[in-house]
Parts: sequence; structure tokens; C-alpha cells
Amino acid sequence: MRIKHLLVLGALFAISCAAPVDNDIDLRVEELLQQMTLEEKIGQMNQVSGGLQFKDEIAKSNVGSILNVVDPVEINAVQRVAVEESRLGIPILVSRDVIHGFRTIFPIPIGLASTFNTDIVEQGARIAAIEATASGVRWTFSPMLDIARDPRWGRVAEGSGEDPYLDSQMGVAMVKGYQGEDLSDPTCMAACIKHFVGYGAAEGGRDYNTTMISERALRNVYFPAFKACVEAGALTLMTSFNDVDGLPSTGNDWLLRDILREEWGFDGMVVTDWNSSGEMVAHGFAEDLKDATRISINAGVDMDMMSFGYLQYVKALVEEGKLSEATIDNAVRNILRLKFRLGLFENPYVDESLARQVAYAPEHLAAAKQAAVESAILIQNNNNVLPLKDVKTILVTGPLADAPYEQLGTWAFDGEAEHTVTPLTALRKQYDVIYEPALDYSRDCDMSKFGAAFEAAKRAEAVVVFVGEEAILSGEAHSLSQLNLQGAQSELIAKMRSTGKPVVVVVIAGRPMTIERDLENCDAMLYSFHPGTMGGEALADLISGRAVPSGKLPMTFLRDAGQAPFYYNHPMTGRPNNGTETLLNDIPVRAGQTSLGCTSYYLDTGYGPLFPFGYGLSYTTFEYSNVTIDKVEYAEGETIVVEYDLKNSGEYDATEVAQLYVRDLVGSVVRPVKELKRFERVTLKAGESKHCRFELPVADLAYWNRDMEYVVEAGKFQLWVAGDSASGSALDFVVK
Ligand code: GLC
Repeated sequence: MRIKHLLVLGALFAISCAAPVDNDIDLRVEELLQQMTLEEKIGQMNQVSGGLQFKDEIAKSNVGSILNVVDPVEINAVQRVAVEESRLGIPILVSRDVIHGFRTIFPIPIGLASTFNTDIVEQGARIAAIEATASGVRWTFSPMLDIARDPRWGRVAEGSGEDPYLDSQMGVAMVKGYQGEDLSDPTCMAACIKHFVGYGAAEGGRDYNTTMISERALRNVYFPAFKACVEAGALTLMTSFNDVDGLPSTGNDWLLRDILREEWGFDGMVVTDWNSSGEMVAHGFAEDLKDATRISINAGVDMDMMSFGYLQYVKALVEEGKLSEATIDNAVRNILRLKFRLGLFENPYVDESLARQVAYAPEHLAAAKQAAVESAILIQNNNNVLPLKDVKTILVTGPLADAPYEQLGTWAFDGEAEHTVTPLTALRKQYDVIYEPALDYSRDCDMSKFGAAFEAAKRAEAVVVFVGEEAILSGEAHSLSQLNLQGAQSELIAKMRSTGKPVVVVVIAGRPMTIERDLENCDAMLYSFHPGTMGGEALADLISGRAVPSGKLPMTFLRDAGQAPFYYNHPMTGRPNNGTETLLNDIPVRAGQTSLGCTSYYLDTGYGPLFPFGYGLSYTTFEYSNVTIDKVEYAEGETIVVEYDLKNSGEYDATEVAQLYVRDLVGSVVRPVKELKRFERVTLKAGESKHCRFELPVADLAYWNRDMEYVVEAGKFQLWVAGDSASGSALDFVVK
């Protein structure tokens, strides 16, 4: 025993000389680790989905974490088994996918990104943490940081779109919201940045599919948000299902050790995705589950979600010398450190009455409504049909007008539909509403009720059609090859157009749909990515003018799914589109063999997207002027001061999301045509002007170049300040 204490003292001395922070915690980790058997260490690395059904395993110290239990009574019962019946009493880490709210559901993350408002996103995450921790959940598998450039991929719903800067800003806001100021605060919930890495680049937009991403693209596009969240103190990270260039992320030591630990200094905990360790057998990257277990742990994974390989094989792998106990110790250190940081040893139980006290608190609902207001994007508003101000009677139709469950969107397990305020309910408070759903759900092809809606429209002054997607049609494993509105929804819009009344379409969906033909059949369109519990109130206020749209697109909207992947910050080609397209119907019959157009576009849809990243209209108009920079030549270390005047030249007080884009004209590798570098929400009264500014350190122009160095390359640059990625005039400057 004396040797053991000397070892402990030695380890403690080493720690006390090393880590400048968390000293006390690291000392406690070492002290506990020294007492643990190999079996108990392995148990900490095992995460199971469920609670008391694993009572015996928990009592035997075979479980370190559970997921998918949210009943505080059951969670306390599980904790009592761990704390009072297991040999060392190590508390269980309780986790859940709290992705955009727990009980009070906020817009789905792509909707939150549409707000371009980090404050409301952080507030939403804080509220989610307050409600979830009141149930006993102390770890959420959020934020999802996967850059998404292909709306065929159903999980675009869960991320922040196509831009690394927006993705980073939103991810950091969520990490701050979940984790709060003090990790031992019982309302703190550990964030989990996921899915590391490149999951959104799944070939063909097919979920779980292979990806081919160069190291440079990883570093310039897919890593930034993860790195920003690590720097913001994210406590955990989840590996992704996909492979990158043949290496499944769950078995990629370059990612999990060289980049995450060595380069970024991450000292948190790494968990697999659901059985993603075991799935390396299906990948053909591991012989069997035992081999997959060896690979994932040696690659740097600490905790196994639901493959059960760690519980089954780690002891044998250590005995066979295929895994070192030192490696196991390091994994368990990461797990124990997290539990100490969260204060679980001091405070493992939850007040069982708290959950219902905090759920749906008025201030939570108010924040969720504001987020839904700010997330809605005004796509079209011909003849300023919106807002419907001088209107008393409206026809409300469409399958999403009164769909309380669908409105919550994907990954809203704990939202309760009975608390949802639907657009129909909310509009009835502001208008005389005639309601004819006409379709029962978004995939409904039965047009037999269209006549009733058509007749009802005759008694209305305007028609509002709520279309989109049922919640199940986006999210995990829900890729689509076509992105048109499902069922007979487009036909319903066309039918309403034939009434001759003003037609407003509201799309409530989990992804950018291809809605070009629907735009031709309506006067105005609001796009609302599944807006959550208070979505109806938000949309009713936007329709009536009590609120004014300010949302902007976090993803490019396509004309056709065949254009995917399409994103604004694409690298320049040698034959950029120059507007001189020869389109399909321009081609003469029996045309001779020749190249047409000779630039990068489609004969059928032309070049451009339907709407660019950053696009969104308002009920007012904004005018940008006097965009200036303080110099034309900058040295490293300096800051570019960009000034501009913004005028609200319309009749509504409103908010504009001003965006700053930069282009590096010549690089040691081909550079993106534009990159978002800053954005800010500017609120102006009707007629008001404001002098605004961005400050952009030259250092923020750095990227990973041909030599794989993170540098600012001298040369010519351009910048734009505008209301979307396709507007504004370029200003030239040089970095020396
Ligand atoms: C799922 C998802 C992941 C989620 C996990 C736990 O398969 O890929 O995002 O956090 O399993 O539910």
C-alpha cells in the first residue's frame, strides 16, 4: 500500500507542477483514479441509453453515463444506485440531445442561425440548460457545428449553415449558454461540439456517407467552428459517423490526438456517436467490435456510446497488450475531470419538483417567441402585400397552419406539442379567420378539399397558406433527392393563386426547399425553419406587422436540387460565370457540336442560386452608403476600420443584418470568391440613419495556404458591406 501512496503523491506532485488551473480537481481525479480497478475504469467509459433497466450494471460500476432519461425521479434513483451502491460511489453523467430547447422549444438551429443574433442564441441555450438541468440532465449533445452545403442532407436542420464564421459565432454562443459562467452551477450543462468532423460533406447529401475533404479544406472550412468552441471552453466533443478520405472519424488519431489535443489543447472529454465505434466494422476499417474498440481508444476516444465494445473487450485488450492501462487512465481522467468540474460529486441529485416549476416560464416563452420572430426570413413581398394591415378577414389554409407537433421540428424530444402556439391559434387573435386546411399533412396528395378552400377564399380579403415539412422529414437519416414541396402543397398554392386574392405563403420546414415555382404563385413568402413552441405567435405578429422580419439565409437557396452542393463562399474557377449563359432553350435545333457558354453553369437552371447566403427582405428598405476603409494599404498586426452609413428609408422601424465580406484576390492556392468576416444587427426607426463601423484585424484574413501554414498572404483584397452575399460594391485594399 505504501508504494501506492508514493505513486499517488508522485502523480499529485507532477500535476501540481503542470496544470495551472483545475489543480484541485486534477488532484481529486488522481486520488480517485488510483483507487479504481481496471474494471471500474472501463465502466466509466461506457455510456448506455436508458436508466433503471441498467441498475445492476450501475451497481457493479459498469456505467459512466446514461442518455435518454429525463424523468428526475428516475435520474435520482439511478444516481442513488451509483453513489450509494457502487464501490466508489462515482456519480453518473446524465445526457440528452437538447438541441434547440428542452421543454420550451426554440427554432431549429438553422433557424437560430438565421437570426444572425448571438445574444438570442446564447439566451436560448441558457434557457435550455435551466430547463434540462432541472430534470437532472447535465450534458447535452449540442451544438452541432457541421458545415452544410447540401440541403439534400436532412441534418442541415441541426446546424448553422454553410459559413464557417457564422457557424463559429453560433456555436460559441450555444457553448456559453449551456455552460454558463460557473461549471459547478447546477444549471450548467456540458456542451458537446459535434460531429467531429466533416459530417455535413456526406457525398450526395446522403447521411452517413463518405466524405473526401482535403486537410486544407478541413482547416479552412470544417475545423474553425470546432476550434472556436474549444477555445470557448467546450467540455466535450463527439466524433462523427463518416470517414474523411477513408478514415472514420471515430478511429482517426490525427483528428483526435494531433489536432484536437496537441494543436488545440482540448482537455475535455471525447465521446463516440451512437455505436460509431462499432460501425467501423461496417466501414471495413475494423475486423470486429474488439478491433474497433482498440482502434477508437487508441485514436483518442474516451467514452463509448452504445457499442458496448468497451465494456466487453477493453480488459482483454489490456491483458493482450493491445491497449495500455495508461491510455485507459487518460480516458478515465477526462471523464472524471468532467464529473468533478460539473460538481456531480458534491451535488449528484436534482430537486424533483424543479423541472415543472421552470418549464415554459413566461420569460422562456418570450425568448422563444423573439427567436422565432428574428429567425423568419422574408423571401418575397410583391406589392408590399405583407404585412396584412388593412385586412380583417383572412383564409388560413395548408397542412402546417395548425400542426403543433410538426412546428417543433427535428430533435425536439422533450418539447410538448400541447404547449405549442400554432399560427392558426395566434392569427385568430388578430383576424377573423376562416380555416380550411385543404391538406392533412405535408406529404398529402389528396386534393379533394381544395374546392372548399377555394370557395372559402371568396369570403376572405387575403389568403395565408402554411406549407413545408413535417418534423420527421428533416434531421438524422432523412436525406432527400428532390427538394420541392412534398405532396400537393404546390398545387394548393396554385389553387389559391387562382382565387385572385392576395396570397401569402409561409414555409415551415427543416431545410431550404426549392420553392421557385411556388414564388410565382404567391405575392409574399415568409420562410420559417421549424420555429418551435412560440412559432405561431411569432408568425402572426410578422404577418400582421406587429413585428418586422429581419432573418437572413444561413444557407444558399437552390433553384433545383441538382445544383447541390452550392455555397456562396466557393473557390473561384478558371471559368467563372459571367452572365453570358446559353440556356437549353437558346440552343438551335440540330446545333453543331460546340461548347456553349464556356463557363461554370447549368444549361437548364443557369448559374445562380435562387437566393444567396445572407439574403432576407424587410417591410422597410435599407440603404447602404459611404462605405469606406481608413487606409488602402495595411500591414500585419493592423486593423481595418470599415465605416458605412445605413438608412432605414421605408415606413417601418426595423432591424438589418449588415454583413462584411472579404475576398483575397490572389493566393498561393485558389481562394473563395467571398468570405463573411463580420455581421451586426442594426435597428433603425423609419427614416433614421446611422453611421456604423466594423473593425477587422488584418490577422483575421489568415488562412491555411499552400505550405499548410496559417498566414495572411500579402496582396490585393476586396471587401463589401451589404445586406447579403451577392450585393454591395467592392472596395480595394492591399496587405503589404
Ligand atoms: C445520434 C446523432 C447524434 C446524437 C446521438 C445521441 O445518432 O448522430 O447527433 O447526439 O445519436 O442521440
